[in-house]
Amino acid sequence: MPMYSEEVIEEVRSRNDIVDVISSYVQLKKSGSNYFGLCPFHNENSPSFSVTRSKQMFYCFGCHMGGNVYTFLMEYNKYTFPEAVEELANRCGYALPKQPMTNAQKARQTKRTKLKNIYKDAANYYYARLHSSGGKVGMDYFAKARNLDDDTMKNFALGYADKKWDSLYQFLKSKGYEEEIMKDAGLVVFDEKKGPRDYFINRVMFPILDANGNPIALGGRVLDDSKPKYLNSRENEIFEKRNTIYGFNIAKRTRRDMFILCEGYMDVIALHRAGFDNAIAALGTALTKQHVKKLKDSHKKIYICFDSDYAGVDAALRAIGMMRLLEVDCKVITMEEYKDPDEYIKAKGAEAFEERIKNAENSFLFAIRKRREDFDVNDPEENNRFFRNMAGRIITIPTEIERENYIVVLADMYNVSPDSLRELVRDVSKNKDELNAIQEEVYKGYSKSDFYNENDSSKVSAFSKKTDAKNKGKEGLKETEGILLTWLLDEPSLYNSISNYLEPLDFSEGLYRDIATEMFTALSEDKEFEPASIMCAFEDNEAHQEIAKMLHTKIEGLESKKDKETLLKETLIKLKNEGLNNVDKTKPGAGKRIRKIKEDIRNLRDIDLL
Ligand code: CTP
Ligand code: MN
Repeated sequence: MPMYSEEVIEEVRSRNDIVDVISSYVQLKKSGSNYFGLCPFHNENSPSFSVTRSKQMFYCFGCHMGGNVYTFLMEYNKYTFPEAVEELANRCGYALPKQPMTNAQKARQTKRTKLKNIYKDAANYYYARLHSSGGKVGMDYFAKARNLDDDTMKNFALGYADKKWDSLYQFLKSKGYEEEIMKDAGLVVFDEKKGPRDYFINRVMFPILDANGNPIALGGRVLDDSKPKYLNSRENEIFEKRNTIYGFNIAKRTRRDMFILCEGYMDVIALHRAGFDNAIAALGTALTKQHVKKLKDSHKKIYICFDSDYAGVDAALRAIGMMRLLEVDCKVITMEEYKDPDEYIKAKGAEAFEERIKNAENSFLFAIRKRREDFDVNDPEENNRFFRNMAGRIITIPTEIERENYIVVLADMYNVSPDSLRELVRDVSKNKDELNAIQEEVYKGYSKSDFYNENDSSKVSAFSKKTDAKNKGKEGLKETEGILLTWLLDEPSLYNSISNYLEPLDFSEGLYRDIATEMFTALSEDKEFEPASIMCAFEDNEAHQEIAKMLHTKIEGLESKKDKETLLKETLIKLKNEGLNNVDKTKPGAGKRIRKIKEDIRNLRDIDLL
């Protein structure tokens, strides 16, 4: 992956006005100094997505997605950072410098390019075979047994690997590929005695496409009932199962506000064929942490639609646990009576499936309904255990009001009085061991920190911050800091009035202080401060979102100059007081710092700032 220098990244960014770029994806209307439109990252009817030219940033007041022009392209098109740089360089006709690379980087890059090329050629080859006279069995299979039309076959680049044992090998050889890359791609097996043999023989082929529609692996299914039913080419530098979501390249453009998550290739394809362009699947593996993170990033609701057999239900419960932990909004569509969505659609059609979507079950209630099957409800002892389990699950719900809602609904569903359920909730919450066991069961042994790298503490804190009730105070403080930073950005002249009483050190350590430092330096030198430019120093988009949020804090109650004076003063004093509590008294210089803050507060009370 090429790494561009900071100067280049900044140059390219500054040559692409964010309003112009985003306008080519989202319809924007000017309102005051901002542009507004319907947010492409969540479903909404009135525009809360704002783009600001002076900030060179976008921010959605609804779903809080935000960042600079790079963040937008990465989130919207699922680009990597270098891809976003390249796209914008192209857009403004800027010639990116050739990157000096280390030998190891070069080798890796060459390997990746070769792999991409070989899968593209192989997928094209199989696609052509499917449409040739030799591919009739494959075509019959897709068209007749699977009821697919030409468009669907084309969209999913389906193909056919014929019966000869070295057709692909011969083709790839004629294209100049080395044997080593054929082997590493998992397309040809080199047997010492028998020589080269295609890995896929007499199978219908399903290329696995990345988010941009490039093949990164191939899957093949037998035409009859022989085993193994599906084969996949192997994992390598460009393909990791745990990171790949089948159908995503198409589903990412859906207008629906949710994805339908199924188990198999054919489920995805059958759903698309029936008009559900939002179907996706995690391939053959259980849903991974990486998948769940990607789904969370998509800001879509997830409707789980797994096979109705035991394994499917088990996988659904696991997926629900992970999604609850990451607060991904999810529901369950059951295919009961049928094996999977593919068979359901075949038997009942698209309208009936649409109906199932409408009646999708709340995932919390689904999990309880399924758990009940493990208990013999005619045995009072077991029945009691079932209700205790239910109570433990209710305790995992974060807010009081939601817990209460579920108590009422569940009491009615399972014929107990809400009061006795409430009592059980109180009782189970006192029993730590029992509660832990139930939590473990709900979250399948995962915890939040499992979803982020151990060495990436900023992400963990950014995440837990949103959910942790203890941190409410911190959120409030960040809002105070956000008010000051947003205000300074909108009205730089304010800096002169407050610079005597405020310094970057007053801001929370980390992102807030970093931004404050940059901003104060620019302001003190009377330079223009464009937050979009420093964003590039932060690699992950979560930081971009946080910065966008910080610099779009709503400031209310500013009708008169007096209001302004009061709010500004109050905000500064609040921040100072908070800072007082946060001084680490074990560090040298703490006493001095405390005296300075106290003096600032005294002064602030006595003077007029504006
Ligand atoms: N799978 C796999 N290897 C297997 C079996 C299954 O990789 N030996 C993966 C495939 O991605 C498949 C998914 O698991 O699409 C679901 O498998 P299964 O339910 O057995 O198949 P179906 O999707 O119902 O396949 P089909 O309708 O083609 O029989
Ligand atoms: Mn099936």
